Amino acid sequence: MANTIKKIGVLTSGGDAPGMNAAIRAVVRACSFYNVDCVGIYRGYQGLMEGDFEELNARSVRNIINKGGTFLKSARSMEFKTIEGRKKAYEQLTKNNIDALVVIGGDGTFTGGVYFSQEFDLPIVGIPATIDNDISGTDFTLGYDTALNTVVDAIDKIRDTASSHNRLFFIEVMGRDAGDIALNSGIGAGAEEILIPEEDEGVERMLESLRKSKMSGKLSSIIVVAEGEKSGKNIFQLAEYVEEHLEGYDIRVSVLGHIQRGGRPSCFDRVLASKLGVGAVEALLDGDSKVMIGLSHQHVVRVPLTVAINGEAKYDKELRRVADITSV
Ligand code: F6P
Repeated sequence: MANTIKKIGVLTSGGDAPGMNAAIRAVVRACSFYNVDCVGIYRGYQGLMEGDFEELNARSVRNIINKGGTFLKSARSMEFKTIEGRKKAYEQLTKNNIDALVVIGGDGTFTGGVYFSQEFDLPIVGIPATIDNDISGTDFTLGYDTALNTVVDAIDKIRDTASSHNRLFFIEVMGRDAGDIALNSGIGAGAEEILIPEEDEGVERMLESLRKSKMSGKLSSIIVVAEGEKSGKNIFQLAEYVEEHLEGYDIRVSVLGHIQRGGRPSCFDRVLASKLGVGAVEALLDGDSKVMIGLSHQHVVRVPLTVAINGEAKYDKELRRVADITSV
């Protein structure tokens, strides 16, 4: 490794995701392993512009691998979207002798990172962290597995009450642009219908499916709706629509909301975070920049950040087929 980097800054930005703390820990400890200084940057790019920094060592990150959220805190910064904001950030980095950055977050975080790295010739490596799993070039993003388990657990609980009262439940899960949480939790929790942002199958299909379910003897049903689904109706309007068009349904709506973003990271997310954190520091020390460290077919890979941001959405059509077959 041609090591010209002496000090690495690490930040978390955008929506938090379980496993961010484990990733910070891995970055800090990899720095310690390779004798590189590490600086924690609080509140994402906002804290970067304001110089909200703290030197971190291997002991600063003890007992955080199991914690949800991010101890460095996170923010979505409007100012960093301006060149003036990014200049301020660069001044803070030079003032503190920080040579390179590891940015942990989703597509907004990576987009900011690409601009910043290009404008100031600064080495930047990204770690994908968002519960939405909507980043190209990696099979999984940090936090997704934990969020899925949280959602399945919640739907299982709702199923108990749905079945006790013979009710139809509409359950909204997160996913502004991506249906991964909805599709996978829907299959995992045995939902009758799953509505996702990538594909508008029309509300008529849902009515038809509910009619069939009723005729086949189903007494209660669960419909999982991703928050960004494209029917043009919000979840309450969807529920009203079904009430108006189908007789004999006792309907309830449950919006799971930010509970999906919190909680102890799953073991999968902790291990993934550890691999990606080490991979990020090693990429920087190898002289790589503007890459995301992802996981592809069990291997840690380096993917250009531009691909991570602009790549094709990776919604799995096979899952839709499986959901249709198993929900009859
Ligand atoms: O990007 C992750 C995510 O949880 C989305 O699924 C959701 O739409 C969004 O963040 C909500 O973000 P916030 O409430 O922080 O603005």
